[in-house]
Amino acid sequence: MRAHRTSRPVQSVERARSQHMSEHENHERSTVSVIGLGQMGTRLAQAFLAAGYVTTVWNRTVAKADALVAQGAVRATTVEEAVAASPLIVVCLPDYKTVGDLLEPVAERLRGRALANLTSGTPEEAVRIADWAARHGADYLDGAAMSGTRLVGRPEGLFVFSGSPEAFTTHRTVLASLGNSVHLGADPALSPVYDTALFGLAWGALAGFYHAVALVGAAGVDPAAFAAVATGHMPFVTSLMADHARQIEDGRFPDDDGTVEVHAAAMEHLLHTSRVRGIGTDVPELIGNLLDRAAATGHGSSGIASVIETITKGERND
Ligand SMILES: NC(=O)c1ccc[n+]([C@@H]2O[C@H](COP(=O)([O-])OP(=O)(O)OC[C@H]3O[C@@H](n4cnc5c(N)ncnc54)[C@H](OP(=O)(O)O)[C@@H]3O)[C@@H](O)[C@H]2O)c1
Repeated sequence: MRAHRTSRPVQSVERARSQHMSEHENHERSTVSVIGLGQMGTRLAQAFLAAGYVTTVWNRTVAKADALVAQGAVRATTVEEAVAASPLIVVCLPDYKTVGDLLEPVAERLRGRALANLTSGTPEEAVRIADWAARHGADYLDGAAMSGTRLVGRPEGLFVFSGSPEAFTTHRTVLASLGNSVHLGADPALSPVYDTALFGLAWGALAGFYHAVALVGAAGVDPAAFAAVATGHMPFVTSLMADHARQIEDGRFPDDDGTVEVHAAAMEHLLHTSRVRGIGTDVPELIGNLLDRAAATGHGSSGIASVIETITKGERND
C-alpha cells in the first residue's frame, strides 16, 4: 500500500517532468515553426528544411503536411503545439483575420518568442497585430514574400521584413534561408508598404513588357526571342532607378537621360506604332498622360525623373 501510495506521486512527477522535458526538448530541437502550409507556407517550410533547420509544421488540412513530414519536418497536431515548439513562429495564411483567429487562443504561448507574419495585408493591420503581439510579450516581424513561390530558398528571392530589430537580428540566419531577407526598419507598417510598392513596380514593368510583346508580335517576333533581348536591356533600366532616386532626393532633375518633352515625343511614336499595328494603347497612353501632365506643370525641359512631382502631388487630368 505504502509503495502504491508513494509510487503514484512519483509517477505523476515523472510524467510531469517527462512532459516538461519533451516540451523543453521539442523547443530546443525545433528552430522554426511554420503555420499555414498553402502554396507559400509549404515553400517556406521546404526552404527551412533545405537549410538544415529543424522545422515544425501545422496546417488546418492535416494531409498537406505529409510531404513535408516525409522530408523531415516535425508535425504539430495543434496550433498551440506548433507555437510551443520553436523560438521563431512563421505564419502564412490568407489574411490577418485568419491569423488573429488562429493565434488569439494561444496568445500566451507566444510570450518570449518571435512571430514572423508573412501573410499579405495592409499597414494598419500590421500595426494592429504588432501591438497585439507586444501585449502578449512576443517580438513581431511583419514580412512579405516578393518573388512569388518560385524563388523561395534562393539568394535572389526577396523577402522584406519590418518590426522588432531584435527579432530580426536573433533570427537573421534562419530567415536568410528563405532568400535575400531584408529588414526595412522598426515600423511594422513598412513591410506592407514596400509589398504594395514593389508589386506596383513589378506590374509597371510587366505591363510595359506585355505591351512590347504585343507590338513586336504584330511584327512577327516570337515572345521568347523578344524576352531574350529585353532582359539584356534591364540593367540600363535598373541603373536609371539608382540615379533617379538620387535626383529625387536632391530635388534636381538634370536632362542627362532626356527631357520630359523628348520622352513625350517618343511616347507619341509608340502610341502611333501601336495604333498602326492594331494593338491596345492603354500602356503608352498612361505614360504619355503622365509626361504631358509633368510638362504642363513646367517640367517640359526637366529630366524625366521630374514626373515624381506630378505623382507625389496626386495631380490628375480629370
Ligand atoms: N502564393 C504566392 O505566390 C504568394 C506570394 C506572395 C505572398 N503570398 C501571400 O501568402 C499568403 C498565403 O498565400 P498562399 O498562396 O500560400 O495561399 P493558399 O495556397 O491559398 O493557402 C492558404 C493557407 O491558409 C490556410 N487557411 C485558410 N483559411 C484558414 C483558416 N480559417 N484556418 C486555418 N488555416 C486556414 C489553408 O489551410 P488549408 O490547407 O486547410 O486550406 C492554407 O494552408 C497570402 O497572404 C498571400 O497573399 C503568396
